[in-house]
Amino acid sequence: MQRLCSLSDLTPGEGTRIDTVSPPVAVFLTADGDVHAIDDTCTHQDASLAQGWLDGCAVECPLHASSFSLTTGAVDQPPARFGVRVHRVEVIDDVVWAELSDAPAHLPPGVSL
Ligand code: FES
Repeated sequence: MQRLCSLSDLTPGEGTRIDTVSPPVAVFLTADGDVHAIDDTCTHQDASLAQGWLDGCAVECPLHASSFSLTTGAVDQPPARFGVRVHRVEVIDDVVWAELSDAPAHLPPGVSL
């Protein structure tokens, strides 16, 4: 398990970019109090999904209209064609831990680790 941040670092309804891991991870605290972690970089272009708009359990990319599920990573519509990885999260004593996915990340063209 990888320590991502403190729960108190998160703002309900917003994302937080964690760049102490590679590739960076976006952590979200939903209005329902659930914590989710996905890859931060959109699969279409180099945009931070932590800067996107949270809508229920999905985040809309801040650059274009694609939206990613926080639970499955699936993308709902173009221009992004690939989903993002989802990382299993556990909150223990105010610390957000993640089991980072070992699946290959779908990074956009021009972005490398
Ligand atoms: S950069 Fe995310 S949909 Fe285009």
